[in-house]
Amino acid sequence: APWLEFFEKFPRAELHCHLLGTISRETFMDLVRESEAPVTEEEVNEFFTRGEKPVGVLRIFRALEEHILKKPEMLRRITVEHMASAREHGVRYIEFFWNWTGLKRHFSYEAGQRAIIEGLREGEARYGIVGRLIPSIDREASPEDALELVNEMLAHPADETIGLGIDYRETNHEPENFWKAFLLARAAGLHITLHAGEFGEHWRNVETAMDLLGAERIDHGYTITDNPALMRHARDENVIFAVVPTNSYYLRTFTDEEWAIRHPIRAMKRAGLRIFPNSDDPTMHHVNNAESWRIMFEFLGFSLEEIREMLVNSIDAAWVDEETKIRWS
Ligand code: ADE
Ligand code: ZN
Repeated sequence: APWLEFFEKFPRAELHCHLLGTISRETFMDLVRESEAPVTEEEVNEFFTRGEKPVGVLRIFRALEEHILKKPEMLRRITVEHMASAREHGVRYIEFFWNWTGLKRHFSYEAGQRAIIEGLREGEARYGIVGRLIPSIDREASPEDALELVNEMLAHPADETIGLGIDYRETNHEPENFWKAFLLARAAGLHITLHAGEFGEHWRNVETAMDLLGAERIDHGYTITDNPALMRHARDENVIFAVVPTNSYYLRTFTDEEWAIRHPIRAMKRAGLRIFPNSDDPTMHHVNNAESWRIMFEFLGFSLEEIREMLVNSIDAAWVDEETKIRWS
């Protein structure tokens, strides 16, 4: 595929990627065996063959947290493997989301963080790709769990840990419930990003993320298209949206003809919002970072000039020092 090759050649940043959503089928199978989890080989095969909508992915994440990811070493392995794969597809800098709350039954925050950072350093040494970490609030858990996560982050600071995110099911789990955790993280100088406006109900969570919780970036954000005034506000505030073309396709599905016109990502760009594409859960959505850029061009119909603007957005949005940016861009 010539266009795919073209997009693989750009040195790029991936800023919206969940560590658990990068596990390859082979590694998934190994980890199931190693942890003697109650998951069959057929189930794993079916899952990886079918490709999953976001809600299905979250179910798999819960199985991983509960039954499979029992040792920090497993996180190291997943990290290194995805660093290799991302680099192969042209990614030079990557920020991983990782949730500790669902894993705390197995090991401490400090042990999990240490294992992933080992993976980041190994990945950088072996493949020349730089990686950073964004611990993420599990919004299906309690505000107290979120506070515990931030307190652990502050008790065990690391150069690689640069910000705080929030993910999992948005429906009925409003971001303002977690205001204390975000306030504490901001006061400590951490960057802030939120998954908001993903599950299709309302634009309010995007507004809350920006105006109350101090989000510098928004992950997804599609429902903002229902509120033109809020789009103007986001543009004025210079918020950057880490969108996911595969994900939004699943969530707000249109006919082929409608897709290029009414897709929320198109409406966001048309309104002047700063966006750029990401892979989110690459192995589970059957996509890689280069493909997410190709989809913007070939299926969503953005021009090469618009793609260039998105590249600039992704570099501006990266939470890393200028020297590192110059090394990759
Ligand atoms: N975790 C992994 N993928 C996610 C998504 N699409 N939305 C919320 N949380 C997630
Ligand atoms: Zn995500």
